[in-house]
Amino acid sequence: MCECGKTGKGTFYVTTPIYYPSDNLHIGHAYCTTATDTLARFKRLQGYDTFFLTGLDEHGQKIERKAQEKGVSPQAYVDEICVNTKKLWQIMDISYDDFIRTTEERHTKVVQKIFERLYQQGDIYKSEYEGWYCTPCESFWTEHQLVDGKCPDCGRPVEKAHEESYFLRLSKYAPRLIEHIKSHPEFIQPESRANEMLNNFLLPGLEDLCVSRTSFSWGIPVTFDPKHVIYVWVDALSNYITALGYLSEDDSKFRKYWPADVHIVGKEIVRFHTIIWPIILMALGLPLPKQVFGHGWLVIDGQKMSKSIGNVVDPVVLCDRYGSDAIRYFLLREMPFGADGNFTNEALLSRINSDLANDLGNLVSRTVAMIEKYYGGALPEMGQRQEVDDNLIALAEALPGKVDDLLSKMQFSTALAEIWKLIGECNRYIDLTQPWVLGRSEEGKARLNTVLYVLAECCRIVGVLITPFMPKTPARIFAQLGVEDEALRSWDSVEDFGGLRAGTLVHKGEALFPRIDIKKEMEALAQLNPKAAKREEAPKAEEKREEDKAGLIGIEDFAKVQLKVAKVVSAEAVKRSDKLLKLSVQCGGQTRTVVSGIAKYYKPEELIGKTVVLAANLKPAKLKGIVSEGMLLAAADDEKGLLRLLTVDGDIPDGTQIG
Ligand code: MSP
Repeated sequence: MCECGKTGKGTFYVTTPIYYPSDNLHIGHAYCTTATDTLARFKRLQGYDTFFLTGLDEHGQKIERKAQEKGVSPQAYVDEICVNTKKLWQIMDISYDDFIRTTEERHTKVVQKIFERLYQQGDIYKSEYEGWYCTPCESFWTEHQLVDGKCPDCGRPVEKAHEESYFLRLSKYAPRLIEHIKSHPEFIQPESRANEMLNNFLLPGLEDLCVSRTSFSWGIPVTFDPKHVIYVWVDALSNYITALGYLSEDDSKFRKYWPADVHIVGKEIVRFHTIIWPIILMALGLPLPKQVFGHGWLVIDGQKMSKSIGNVVDPVVLCDRYGSDAIRYFLLREMPFGADGNFTNEALLSRINSDLANDLGNLVSRTVAMIEKYYGGALPEMGQRQEVDDNLIALAEALPGKVDDLLSKMQFSTALAEIWKLIGECNRYIDLTQPWVLGRSEEGKARLNTVLYVLAECCRIVGVLITPFMPKTPARIFAQLGVEDEALRSWDSVEDFGGLRAGTLVHKGEALFPRIDIKKEMEALAQLNPKAAKREEAPKAEEKREEDKAGLIGIEDFAKVQLKVAKVVSAEAVKRSDKLLKLSVQCGGQTRTVVSGIAKYYKPEELIGKTVVLAANLKPAKLKGIVSEGMLLAAADDEKGLLRLLTVDGDIPDGTQIG
């Protein structure tokens, strides 16, 4: 009896990161989940008892602030996003087995138990944290790790944090972890990421990690000291075992599926998954995941997609226009999984036309049409084989093994390329064998039997092999080929050539992927998503002149200016100037000096404590020998001698983005 008791293959546990709730899920988010889904589907197809986990990472300072900005409770904020996230996964055919939310009791209770246990055994201790915090990344940094005073991961401003905190003894476990990484080369993949972890973090020496916060409350309280909430990454990483019922009444899934076969994560969070997470597991006495795979980013013009840059691409729009299978295909085919890849509408549309409409779509429709034309729709029996048939059959027979090998290394793109090699060879086989000539004579028809059987069987094999990548298309191929028997859609059925039965009735159907008029579609997409499309196609010269005349700018120009909330902490007159004041403003944990021409309109003491609007990414400028790091926005009418600073209503943290 196998471990799982259901199949002969054993179990397979695969996860995606649990996402931060976002009202702007973009195609980059869909990338990671699509790849994970494909792997899960592939393992299921092969007969593994597979468990695929995804979910939402709902706690933390970032979420608390976003909810505040929207004027809703954090729970209401995440509840709404959860509904939309699940809708997107449904549209994209994401076949998760469980969707965990870190606000669920099944998770929070167990995270509290984990924290208590680590505290009781002395792996967590109380001390004082003094350092920097990047709220968008929810990461702690020391002074020397900052790059130009900013977060080394995302380049955004960090905030000073000084609070009583609990700490996890990373230093105690570092030697064991280093040993594990060195002796298990498959643990961190691709290999370059393992070297990065060793050289940049582990070998220089790990400091203990701050694992609680007191400066906000949206998190899981520490049971024995409830003014502390558990650091969001400790909370989030634990999802991989809380979802399986670890430390709960029913831990059967945990016993069955843990350790995970692979955590698939984006490259920027490999650090959390290969340092903090294994150390938590070691401290709990649990086995480590077999592998953490860090994939690259889907970028636009070399930049990660983000709402503030204005370059997000909406996967719902794309699925709606071209079908989710085409989008899944593109994501997995266009770039190697470990590396970054550029997204453009043009690349997407060209792939749909060339790979899906021309190569795959044409192969299926030509094959079925010829069986209808020459055999009244009934599949002929394979006759004598010639070398040209043998070559194609050998390629088809070798394909499942190749796909298996490539997917075990997460090489989604190469696996698809191999499948498309068979499709390409089939199309070439049609050109070589010229069925339309064979169909003219009785002697030719004897040969045509074999040609059309081989083609139809190759189409079936392709249908089975693309199932994990493109879950909807195979059913449409099988309908055209008349494949009704479930057994002929299985993994086992592709190991030997010749599963299709002679006499099966084929049915010509609609084109699998209609050809797209690329120019027209590019224009339509540009209308739908001007922010992203403007980068692909500059406005025509004539239009641009008109826009310039009217003083119009695009949203991408506007988005270049970073406007942020700032608080004035001090102000004084600038010597030898009757116009200028020198202000110190607090903005996202940084103090900046701003020289402002407002002396005629404000006394320095009137300004202290005001919440103002700062243009935060202006190049520094020297005014009367003082370097000014930004500009305060004001409404001014010089002629009438009026000037009032723009201020922000209500209570909102400094550093908050405006736009
Ligand atoms: N909440 C954490 C993960 C906690 S796991 C215990 C988080 N969430 S996230 O929403 O910011 O990112 C989720 C995943 O989406 C990450 O793997 C991230 O790399 C991936 N991506 C987000 N934008 C992406 C691209 N543009 N391209 C590819 N993947 C991207 O991190």
